[in-house]
Amino acid sequence: MTVRQIKPGVYTVGSIDWDRRLFDELIPLPDGTTYNSYFIKGNEKTALIDTVDPPKENELFDNLKKLGVNNIDYVIANHAEQDHSGTIPKILKAFPNAKAVTNAKCKGMLMDLSLIPEDKFVVVNDTDTLSLGNKTLQFIMAPWVHWPETMLTYLREDKILFPCDFFGSHLATSDLYATDEARVYEAAKRYYAEIMMPFRNNIKKHMEKLKQFEIEMIAPSHGPIHNKPEFILDAYKDWISDNVKNEVIIPYVSMHGSTDKMVRYFVDALIKRDITVKPFNLTKTDIGELAKALVDAATIVIASPTVLVGPHPAAVYATYLANALRPKTKFASIIGSYGWGGKMVDTITGMLGNLKVELISPVIVKGYPKEDDFTLLEKLADEILAKHKGINIIP
Ligand code: FEO
Repeated sequence: MTVRQIKPGVYTVGSIDWDRRLFDELIPLPDGTTYNSYFIKGNEKTALIDTVDPPKENELFDNLKKLGVNNIDYVIANHAEQDHSGTIPKILKAFPNAKAVTNAKCKGMLMDLSLIPEDKFVVVNDTDTLSLGNKTLQFIMAPWVHWPETMLTYLREDKILFPCDFFGSHLATSDLYATDEARVYEAAKRYYAEIMMPFRNNIKKHMEKLKQFEIEMIAPSHGPIHNKPEFILDAYKDWISDNVKNEVIIPYVSMHGSTDKMVRYFVDALIKRDITVKPFNLTKTDIGELAKALVDAATIVIASPTVLVGPHPAAVYATYLANALRPKTKFASIIGSYGWGGKMVDTITGMLGNLKVELISPVIVKGYPKEDDFTLLEKLADEILAKHKGINIIP
């Protein structure tokens, strides 16, 4: 990424990772990502906000060189995860006067994860400020977006919020700002689903706290910068609200066609009732898309055949994921098939403990579905429609 000025004395010096396709060996990155780092030049001191993933450290150093940076006083560590903090040790080595500025929790984690010596830190607390002369940094503690040590940094004079992962998106783009709003919305929603959704209640509190700040720009450490902050703030307000949509998400897998037939029939039954339905074939789906769909769907229906007396492992994975991501889903059910018996329903329902869902009676059929089974699927669709009508649904 080339160096770009976002306000006088404030520059982007991070890296665009166009080619990365997997994060944490878990999360697909269909659009790559960026590791944004920001250099702030005050008239007395300088600061670097977050760094980059270590494989991209040369780009950060090249950018600092292009900018003629020969001194860094402070490296602000908003988050200890290595895609932002992994190059801090190299920065501290290259600029021996520099101190790592962070909260006590993050300091401990950076000492453990990146082996940064204790005497290299300046520890800050909530509302503390750090003067760079004509520019002032204020620190906002915001734990659990998405690790326990996360904090945000606010540049008072320029009204820029640097929230690290919070409000970010995995999107490699040459756009400095979120100008292609439709594209950024989808990437940011997916990012929220994968990274932030389990911490929805923490985010509600942080969003309240942010109301006291005048924010003209949100400069996250992944994806484009928000020069119209209300775009991403409004999106987050919607995602973290308790409202759900008239939607049914169906993660499914089928071995010999029985469950597939049920899913196809059930999809049509829901469409007939004007319910939006999103089936995800677990042998082909991108789990990020499944996570994104879970952000505001009212209902999840898991569909699986029976394998070795339990659900298909792909259905187990999807159920585990849905449970771990803690979406605001209100209702759940299970459909599927078996050959001679099993405990699929018990296994799946036992894995949904984090979700505050009402379980609607499953439809489990022996062998290939028959007329009576389709009638049961019609009844399930009726029941879901009635449940959706009984709650506050986003139109
Ligand atoms: Fe982008 Fe949690 O690191």
